[in-house]
Amino acid sequence: MSGLLAGKRLLVTGVITDASIAFSVAKLAQENGAQVVLTGYGRLSLVERIAKRLPEAAPVIELDVTNPEHLAGLADKVREHVDGLDGVVHSIGFAPQSCLGGGFLDAPWEDVATALQVSTFSYKSLAMAALPLMSAGGAVVGLTFDATKAWPVYDWMGVAKAGLESASRYLALHLGKQGIRSNLVAAGPLRTIAAKSIPGFDQFEDAWTERAPLGWSLTDQEPAARACLALLSDWFPATTGEIVHVDGGYHAIGA
Ligand SMILES: NC(=O)c1ccc[n+]([C@@H]2O[C@H](COP(=O)([O-])OP(=O)(O)OC[C@H]3O[C@@H](n4cnc5c(N)ncnc54)[C@H](O)[C@@H]3O)[C@@H](O)[C@H]2O)c1
Repeated sequence: MSGLLAGKRLLVTGVITDASIAFSVAKLAQENGAQVVLTGYGRLSLVERIAKRLPEAAPVIELDVTNPEHLAGLADKVREHVDGLDGVVHSIGFAPQSCLGGGFLDAPWEDVATALQVSTFSYKSLAMAALPLMSAGGAVVGLTFDATKAWPVYDWMGVAKAGLESASRYLALHLGKQGIRSNLVAAGPLRTIAAKSIPGFDQFEDAWTERAPLGWSLTDQEPAARACLALLSDWFPATTGEIVHVDGGYHAIGA
């Protein structure tokens, strides 16, 4: 098997449609020599149907990242398909509607707590659940939306992403001794289910379309997926705690 990820065994979370960033990661990873195991949340039969659209059908394991039993049983379930993991992809985010679309000042703690548990704490939970299968050279990669700024309508999801960015640095700190890397890809806006659930998301779409120095496609998940592959590969062996922007250069400009 040849390709950037030849022989690598990956666990990819976050596929719900073929527009999911995780679907593009899984597809490109298979095309580049990796063996892929998926996890699915909630609508398992839908995820299984989407998994069949990959170049090679991939097994799907049920995983709600807030469910301690799912997390505790994850390594054994993955072992039914592969004998270890070289990479884990966290492509998970959720915030209740009260937390998005301008509701920052009114969202109740219970809803904010859900957003933080699913979108931030889960990065550590997932990594720890997969850790028994990982060894030196392994990589954890997650997806963020540049959290250095306060965006209109992103609200508590922005806070959750700021936490995720910090959590990735702490994971880099704590897993570095074992030779395991943790890095994030900061993607520009892409039309996925998660994005469509954000009221006013079109503001991001307009801003990126008008201003990204390289231009930006709202429907092309491949640039973000390629960066995930690169970070999972052996070509970033000394990089951890890093955030790679895949946003057409938007983060770099002041407009
Ligand atoms: N779409 C964008 O514009 C954009 C930009 C930057 C970063 N991101 C991030 O990319 C990641 C993937 O999102 P996407 O845009 O591909 O959307 P998506 O809706 O396709 O994927 C989100 C996934 O999160 C999963 N999920 C939600 N709650 C879960 C739980 N409790 N346990 C396990 N899984 C759960 C969903 O099942 C879904 O598969 C998210 O972290 C998102 O914040 C998206």
